[in-house]
Amino acid sequence: MVTIMAESMKGLKRTHRCGELSRANVGETVTVMGWVQKQRNKGGLIFVDLRDRAGILQVIFEESDCGKENFEKAEKLRSEFVVAVTGKVEDRGGAVNENLATGQIEIRAAGLRILSEAETPPFPIEADSRTKEELRLKYRYLDLRRPDLQRNLILRSRIAAAIRAFLCEEGFLEIETPILNKSTPEGARDYLVPSRVHPGAFYALPQSPQIFKQLLMCSGYDRYFQIARCFRDEDLRADRQPEFTQVDLEMSFVDVDDVIDATERMVARVCREAIGLEVTLPITRMTWQEAMNRFGSDKPDTRFGMELQDVSEVVRDCGFGVFTTALEAGGSVRGINVKGQAEMPRKKIDALTEFAKGYGAKGLAYLSVMPDGSYKSSFAKFMTQEQLETLVKAMKGEAGDLLLFAADRLKTVWAVLGALRIEVAKQLELIDDSRFDFLWVTEFPQFEWSDEEERYVAMHHPFTMPVEEDLDLLETEPGRVRAKAYDIVLNGVELGGGSVRIFQSDVQERMFQALGFTKEKAHEQFGFLMDAFRYGVPPHAGLAIGLDRFVMLLVGAESIREVIAFPKVKDASCLMSEAPGGVDEKQLEELHLKVTS
Ligand code: AMO
Ligand code: AMP
Repeated sequence: MVTIMAESMKGLKRTHRCGELSRANVGETVTVMGWVQKQRNKGGLIFVDLRDRAGILQVIFEESDCGKENFEKAEKLRSEFVVAVTGKVEDRGGAVNENLATGQIEIRAAGLRILSEAETPPFPIEADSRTKEELRLKYRYLDLRRPDLQRNLILRSRIAAAIRAFLCEEGFLEIETPILNKSTPEGARDYLVPSRVHPGAFYALPQSPQIFKQLLMCSGYDRYFQIARCFRDEDLRADRQPEFTQVDLEMSFVDVDDVIDATERMVARVCREAIGLEVTLPITRMTWQEAMNRFGSDKPDTRFGMELQDVSEVVRDCGFGVFTTALEAGGSVRGINVKGQAEMPRKKIDALTEFAKGYGAKGLAYLSVMPDGSYKSSFAKFMTQEQLETLVKAMKGEAGDLLLFAADRLKTVWAVLGALRIEVAKQLELIDDSRFDFLWVTEFPQFEWSDEEERYVAMHHPFTMPVEEDLDLLETEPGRVRAKAYDIVLNGVELGGGSVRIFQSDVQERMFQALGFTKEKAHEQFGFLMDAFRYGVPPHAGLAIGLDRFVMLLVGAESIREVIAFPKVKDASCLMSEAPGGVDEKQLEELHLKVTS
């Protein structure tokens, strides 16, 4: 490293950020500070691109303007040095740089201070970096200097500000809830914190502020919100982190429509202020049942068609064992019509079959309606011409179409075709990236059968209110009970979800029973909430939006890691700080812990 005495800021004050200057400032003397993007020495002239969070600005050093000493310092500048430059803003005249927002101007330097020098960074600090993500995450503080990440985090801050402004105007109060907590009911694994004072006892970090926000309703706060950090020890994916942020809200004396109305106006305002997008309100609503039947997903991407068709009745008596066996076992046969892909090569269909198997399919049956009207199919030989024609008609198949079918229990058929639909649309580039399709999915089932636990589990959480007409089914047919639960979906991503809560203790008790909680267990886990309800509880409902996912979709990022300053990787570690890490024996002792493996 070159050794240059770092100069001080004494007597200097920044007047503008680099990217804030424009033609309107021509003639002014300004002081800018930032990082050297690039230095080019052209003999008597030195050009420096100076970068700060607002953008990049060209500075020009000429000995006759800045003096010998400054010119010699400018010769030493290298990438990522931190400098302060004072000079006059000039019009570039003919030499406009179209690639820079400040491309019409430059600064003719009169003064230069080197505030700190820099070693060569392990990767170039530039937009659209092709650097491997692991390296970027190891040096996250450098990665965060790149313009695309800066843009994402700046937008994230603006989005949070717009959310706060909206909710405050609507009479919501921002109230913090504890991080050191008892277990919460979202159903993921808890992160635990051992207690020093209570040997063998643990706090759980909140999976959400759910119970506390309901208590705040009991306490009369009426409308609550929090931009809340939540912790869930679950397998990570592109849209999941072990700690993430929710825009969490709860309202008293309301029903489904009130929460939906407040949320969608908030979302619309954020979209307008953050990216200038006008969201048409009200946002379309679809019941869970309809979403599953049409798209095989409770978070359908509605930017393209290729909807599922139920052909169970059409093929019930055909000679194809795969179909009839599935139907006899109580399953279903459904398909998607991939328009114009009849001639998709066998190899590609095989690859789609493998993809389907990843979602539990035993196979994928196909039928191509060839341009000449003949059929090419994995099962045509088991069907009569008439049966085939009826099937093609049921699928709205035309010459040139490729029909793909799954036969299995309905849950699997939905999972397979729901995923296949998206995969095929991606491969064929059928999705219009410029679209923002919002959707409410309502009336989720109250319960979901867990094969693992061999019992019904809450699909949302145990405080969710059933649809009134279905209350009587709680004991007799729990599988048919619909919940007053709703999710907001954007482009096939679950953005947020919530529900109307149970506030009657008898209904809550029946719910716990249906979920197989004993009275004691329910009381042990949620006793204080149940107790609170005994002292006057208002009807209430709420929702939480995943802020990371919302920002990810608005900036068009592929992963929430791109909108979180210091994210974790797949195994929940941080490549920069190397968390989680070991601790010394003394700390473990104080916490009454022993590591056994
Ligand atoms: P839910 O569990 O659906 O509801 O969470 C709400 C939203 O939070 C986001 N989210 C996540 N984002 C990133 N990483 C994760 N691991 C992660 N998990 C969830 C999603 C999701 O839609 N208490 C209820 C809300 C309520 O009923 O009011 C709750 O937490 O965008
Ligand atoms: P098989 O009789 O197993 O050779 O399968 C005949 C065709 O049906 C192949 O194209 C398989 O991929 C397909 N197939 C097998 N099982 C299923 C299923 N459950 N659903 C849809 N297609 C299947």
